[in-house]
Amino acid sequence: MFDLAAYLAERRRLVDEALHRYLPPAEGPVRELVEAMAHSLFAGGKRLRPILCLAGAEAVGGEEVEPFLPVACALEFIHTYSLIHDDLPALDDDDLRRGQPTCHVKFGEARALLAGDALLTEAAALCLDPGLTAGLDPRRLQRAAHLIFSSAGVRGMVGGQDADVAAAGRDVERELVDFIHANKTGALIRAAVGSGAILGGGDEDQIETVLDYGRLIGLAFQIQDDILDIEGDAATLGKVVGADARLGKATYPALMGLDPARDRARDLVARATELALSLGVSAEPLAAVAGYIVERRI
Ligand code: IPE
Ligand code: IPE
Ligand code: MG
Ligand code: MG
Ligand code: MG
Repeated sequence: MFDLAAYLAERRRLVDEALHRYLPPAEGPVRELVEAMAHSLFAGGKRLRPILCLAGAEAVGGEEVEPFLPVACALEFIHTYSLIHDDLPALDDDDLRRGQPTCHVKFGEARALLAGDALLTEAAALCLDPGLTAGLDPRRLQRAAHLIFSSAGVRGMVGGQDADVAAAGRDVERELVDFIHANKTGALIRAAVGSGAILGGGDEDQIETVLDYGRLIGLAFQIQDDILDIEGDAATLGKVVGADARLGKATYPALMGLDPARDRARDLVARATELALSLGVSAEPLAAVAGYIVERRI
């Protein structure tokens, strides 16, 4: 039996160590800026996106971890920036994140904005750092970086966040909720696992399969996030619950009710698990992570 808890804990440890190495030092005039970045980065977090990147590489035969860590950690930089900005008063106006006061509550809005900006731009620099990525095939790295950054922008996370803000308090169609979820959350998750498959040396069929897997679990992940916002435990989640209803957010449970939303997430995960299993034993972690997406309480 594959021990998912042990796998996640070990990968999280490797990712956390690398994140500490890659964050610029908190000294001189930028000390407080870097402290604000570090506050949000190290407050906790499942490290799902970097772990998916590593598991995507492993699924197609990329056995080492070290060469993929800069790209994996760049994904966590981008994700953390998205959380800092998502929590700002102009967006979701949340005070608690990863069990800690949000970045703007602790450091002020100006510095939280800039900490987010810095994490995004540091992500690009890290991903393309010539020294740290010398062991990777340059064409594969270019393709992976393009996938990640295009999935973080208008055609992905930022596009989805904008639609999320615009849809709040309105009656929305199922198609728009699909768009919001697939983009604000799904796109970066798909890019995380897909970039791993690209860097790990996957062939076109394998990369397509992994990207499809990522699309399915990415959507399921946000549905579960919406469900946990209703029935989750704030102390476990480390964020305030009930916020979506307060803001009139376009969510699956609001659209169709809790049970149908749960069914939809489970169906997506079942399809993702099948795709992972089709890749063979090296994709065992991907198959196990898919199940975790809907089982998780955190
Ligand atoms: C929360 O993401 C924000 C969404 C995109 C739904 P995670 O649930 O992965 O948050 P952390 O990284 O574990 O804090
Ligand atoms: C956020 O979705 C997606 C991001 C891109 C950060 P949510 O607004 O639902 O995430 P939480 O619930 O605040 O973590
Ligand atoms: Mg939001
Ligand atoms: Mg939010
Ligand atoms: Mg949420």
